Amino acid sequence: MEREPIGVVGVGWVGLVTAACFAELGHEVWARDIVPEKVESLSRGEVPIHEPGLPELVTKNAERLHFTTEMGDLLERAGLLFVCVDTPPTYSGDADLSRVEAVIRELGDSDEHALVMKSTVPVGTGRGVQRRRDGLGYVSNPEFLKEGSAVDDFMRPDRVVVGADEHSAAYADRVEALYEPLGGEIVRTDVASAEMIKLASNAFLATKISFINEIANVSEELGADVLEVARGMGLDDRIGPRFLQPGVGFGGSCFPKDVQALKQLAGNSGYHFQLLTAVIEVNELQKRRTISKLQKHLGPLPGKEIALLGVAFKPNTDDVREATSLVLAGRLAGEGANVRVYDPIVGDKAEHMLAGAHIAESALDAVDGADAVVLVTEWPEFAELDWTGEVKERMRVPLVVDGRNFLDREALVDAGFTYEGIGR
Ligand code: UGA
Repeated sequence: MEREPIGVVGVGWVGLVTAACFAELGHEVWARDIVPEKVESLSRGEVPIHEPGLPELVTKNAERLHFTTEMGDLLERAGLLFVCVDTPPTYSGDADLSRVEAVIRELGDSDEHALVMKSTVPVGTGRGVQRRRDGLGYVSNPEFLKEGSAVDDFMRPDRVVVGADEHSAAYADRVEALYEPLGGEIVRTDVASAEMIKLASNAFLATKISFINEIANVSEELGADVLEVARGMGLDDRIGPRFLQPGVGFGGSCFPKDVQALKQLAGNSGYHFQLLTAVIEVNELQKRRTISKLQKHLGPLPGKEIALLGVAFKPNTDDVREATSLVLAGRLAGEGANVRVYDPIVGDKAEHMLAGAHIAESALDAVDGADAVVLVTEWPEFAELDWTGEVKERMRVPLVVDGRNFLDREALVDAGFTYEGIGR
């Protein structure tokens, strides 16, 4: 059977995962990016982001994966164009749709193509596009990929959402067919509902995190252990155990942006989304609490040496967008502390965003002479450090703020560390 050729517009993280996975499923894929250097290096098989399994897929399917700077290459060969361009937040919190608009302009007046929108866009975007361009097909197909496990999430989806209105039904059928081999449940719906499913899913998960962070904070006051609480709550299958890990706040390119966007969208329509206002505020406060914990033990911070372990917003990625580490580095520098950071993958890529922090060569280098260590990202290698031996010997003050409840608290306390977790 001849497989449907695919066009992918925008080869960032979502676009590259989408392109590589469709190629793995046997499709010819034409993927277009406007940055020539990126297209050149991808054509040589070099993958510019850290995403487990992705370089292997790109190499394995090199014959079916074509990278180009020319939109014409896609228009000539593919009917379905998966739009994977950035929709970053503007100052007001609305999504910036200029890149999506640029793609629509490039399509001219084609009646033989459908935009398959993977980029996260405000509810109503699809309707607006179709009102202006009624010959163009439009399918909303939001992505639910997690950085660090994106290939697996694509290949084994919980669900696939396909939103289309009447006149694009045939295109939506073709999109559905692409995902059929993957086995996830297909949610066929209208465009606005599909757009809302994406924003509501991220907003709900963020709400779950802010909720457990508040339970953690109250547990600290009342003497409960949030890990026990989350375990007990999570076994109720109406609640579920996932996204109940308290920490130093959620980051990344999606949750902060999408929660803000949904709140803003509601506001623009005249509805004040109270819950999301609180979710955002709790997340900001959560970052600040780390500083208070350091001050509780060290007093004023001027001149104190603070080591931050982890810069990426979560493990298995080199993404630092909206990472808590950046906020902490800035606030600590503002308090007069000297900050050193170490991340196994990010390296010095984020140096300009770390408020003058020293980029250490290794975790041990970072903790050398430190008055406190703050664990920001739960990279496995941080659990494997020789905490009770070499780390303790190197630190000036054996104080650990474990921002992810990731380390062996008992072992650290037994070895004489002062240990501060989250909600314990
Ligand atoms: C998130 C969603 O999980 C994906 O389904 C969605 O497709 C994606 O956004 C997107 O919209 O593109 P991602 O941002 O890659 O994925 O990362 P998550 O694993 O969801 O983590 C987000 C943040 O929440 C991280 O900072 C993480 O440390 C934090 N988190 C997560 C917690 O603090 N506690 C938890 O229990 C889970």
